[in-house]
Amino acid sequence: MTSIVILISGRGSNMEAIVRAAQKEAWPAKISAVISNRPDAGGLDFARSHNIPAESLDHRQFESRQAFDAALIKLIDTYQPDLVVLAGFMRILTADFVQHYEGRLLNIHPSLLPLFPGLATHEQALEAGVQEHGATVHFVTEALDHGPIVLQASVPVVSGDTPDTLAQRVLKQEHIIYPRAVRWFIDNRISIDQNRVLVSPPESQLLVSQDK
Ligand code: GRF
Repeated sequence: MTSIVILISGRGSNMEAIVRAAQKEAWPAKISAVISNRPDAGGLDFARSHNIPAESLDHRQFESRQAFDAALIKLIDTYQPDLVVLAGFMRILTADFVQHYEGRLLNIHPSLLPLFPGLATHEQALEAGVQEHGATVHFVTEALDHGPIVLQASVPVVSGDTPDTLAQRVLKQEHIIYPRAVRWFIDNRISIDQNRVLVSPPESQLLVSQDK
């Protein structure tokens, strides 16, 4: 049984999508814990109401990024995870943290990476005037918002879009691709060759949504 720990910072809708998919499809996996760096993260209530251990570790209580990440590793490892899923976890991670979970650390980023790393991706997309935008599930490496791409979803950008309308359109796809990518991982369908993620048996690693 694959043990999964999910890290969040806020409402946790991606975490919720993963938990729901795991239940609905009876994954051979256990969501062992949901951990937030913000004690008031809304997603913690959802986890608790689904009988998933929900913990918070407040980064403001630590004097350095190193100290927080070391404590976070300790807490996560009490759940012996095979996979750590970053789902709206709004922290820059230390190299030590990333190395500790190398090959078993996934993130979702709301853009078609390598376009628009960092924050305010929807604003960035509108400013750039791109015709399509989207989201990316990728393995985490030391470079922020980089790392081997597992699965992407694209959506159209339409006239009149605001960062909010675009965010909503992208989020709907996030809720599709993140559970799918995690499922591939637990089913051992993923391998990494250089910087490229291979899925076997092959399945499209790009979903193209026409939803407006
Ligand atoms: C998502 O758009 C995610 O891609 C980004 O932050 C948002 C988190 O949303 N990193 P939620 O907490 O999963 O609802």
